[in-house]
Amino acid sequence: MNRKTFLKSSCQLCLLGAAGMFSTSLLSSCGATKTAAYRVPVVDGKISVPLAALEADGSKIVRPQGWDFDVAVHKNGDRYEALLLRCTHMENPLFPSGNGWVCHLHGSVFDAEGRVRKGPAEKALTRYRTEVVGENLMIYT
Ligand code: FES
Repeated sequence: MNRKTFLKSSCQLCLLGAAGMFSTSLLSSCGATKTAAYRVPVVDGKISVPLAALEADGSKIVRPQGWDFDVAVHKNGDRYEALLLRCTHMENPLFPSGNGWVCHLHGSVFDAEGRVRKGPAEKALTRYRTEVVGENLMIYT
C-alpha cells in the first residue's frame, strides 16, 4: 500500500474527533477497520442531509454517492457551511488539523473556513451553498 492509498483509507472521523473539531460521538462507530463518512445521495447536483443525522453541534462529514471526497458540514451561527475536503493543490484528501485541515501529500494547510494558511496550495477549498429545506440540509454542488 503506498502512502496516498493509506491516507485515503485512513479513518477521517477518528482524526476529526482527535482534533476536537467535531463531536466525539462520531467516534463511537470508529474502530480498527475503515470507517466511512455518512453516505448521502446526490440528486440533480444537490446533496440532502437529514438534519437529524447531524451531530448536536451541527457538524457531520458526509460522502456524496459516487464522489471520491468527503464534504465537511458544520454550523456557524445560524447557518450551515459545507466544504469539499479535496486539496486544491493536487486533489488529495484532507484531514483535520487543529482548527482546520491539512493535506499530507505536500503539506498544505487550510483553516476551518477553507482559506489557505500554508501552501503549496494557492486556492481556497470549494465551498457549497447550503439551505435548510424542511427536515433536510440541502447542499448545492
Ligand atoms: S496535493 Fe495537497 S499539498 Fe499537494
